[in-house]
Amino acid sequence: MVDADNLVKIYQTRSGHRRAVDGISFHVGEGEFFSFLGPNGAGKTTTIGMMVALLAPTSGRISIDGLDVTRNPHEVRQRIGIIFQEPSLDDRLTAWENLEFHGRLYGLAGPERKKRSSFLLEVMGLYERKNDLVKTFSGGLKRRLEIVRGLVHAPRLLILDEPTLGLDPHSRRNVWEYIHNVRKKVGMTVFLTTHYLEEADGSDRVAIINHGKIVALDSPALLKKSLGPEVLNILVGEKEALRKFLVDEYPSLSESIREEPDGSISFPMPFTSRDSPWEMLKKIPIQITQASIRRPNLDDVFIKYTGGDLGDPGTNMKPEAIQ
Ligand SMILES: Nc1ncnc2c1ncn2[C@@H]1O[C@H](COP(=O)(O)OP(=O)(O)OP(=O)(O)O)[C@@H](O)[C@H]1O
Ligand SMILES: [Mg+2]
Repeated sequence: MVDADNLVKIYQTRSGHRRAVDGISFHVGEGEFFSFLGPNGAGKTTTIGMMVALLAPTSGRISIDGLDVTRNPHEVRQRIGIIFQEPSLDDRLTAWENLEFHGRLYGLAGPERKKRSSFLLEVMGLYERKNDLVKTFSGGLKRRLEIVRGLVHAPRLLILDEPTLGLDPHSRRNVWEYIHNVRKKVGMTVFLTTHYLEEADGSDRVAIINHGKIVALDSPALLKKSLGPEVLNILVGEKEALRKFLVDEYPSLSESIREEPDGSISFPMPFTSRDSPWEMLKKIPIQITQASIRRPNLDDVFIKYTGGDLGDPGTNMKPEAIQ
């Protein structure tokens, strides 16, 4: 469904230029649920811009459903439904009017437009609100309506750029329930970008993107497996002393140690160590309050491949000299 081959996007900036997407290649199969996971400024939205022909690649190629995006922008857009990162509904219109406008834009005939809009509003639990002005909707309802709008013209590929950003956990779950529901009913390829690891965990494959490059690409299960079977989780008073001991003793851990929200320190068992987790714990010369072993999760994977990069906008902004 999607084929990207050595895709590059360089933005011109005042101080030089910025390589936002730096030679990425990937393939998304028909019907696949594919996630792009990466910190702020990693290049996710830029990649989507090239997928939907809003941005021209600096070099490389991208095709959707076998069509070269640069050469066939119109045909490609007909096949895509997109939910932009920035909300883009017209607040002054009703839900129904927003859908009508979109359907006309895509050249759908009246009866078809009405049938699909009603069906999708029903699936997304919005039918009762169809004649309400969008400005009276909550953030979660607006997001759901944007998804309906993205699907009105029956696209084969749905692109979601951080669809649940800013929603509370309940609304996020809700939006996902609805997306899975539509997917089951109409069957389509989904391309998602997100910061939420648990959302990516539900996809068939995940690409981790950092500084414009794909640094890992596999199913969530295999990505977790690549860290080994066990992650150690340790609660100590002296966190910095523990970190220093671990890095001195096992240099390969330097980029995989992370602090959990509860203040504990966790890391995958180093491959270089022959010790069992319990033997390793015994060697730590620092007072340990509590320790446990668990399987790796996607957070551990993300930290390992992005080096715990929080995506400070400045980090991707090294201006390069113009050649
Ligand atoms: N129009 C532009 N001109 C110059 N630089 C840009 C432009 N748009 C984006 N960038 C830069 O390109 C890099 C990638 O941006 P992009 O929006 O693709 O990241 P992202 O992964 O979508 O981030 P986020 O998670 O914050 O949405 C960033 O450093 C960003 O500042
Ligand atoms: Mg973005």
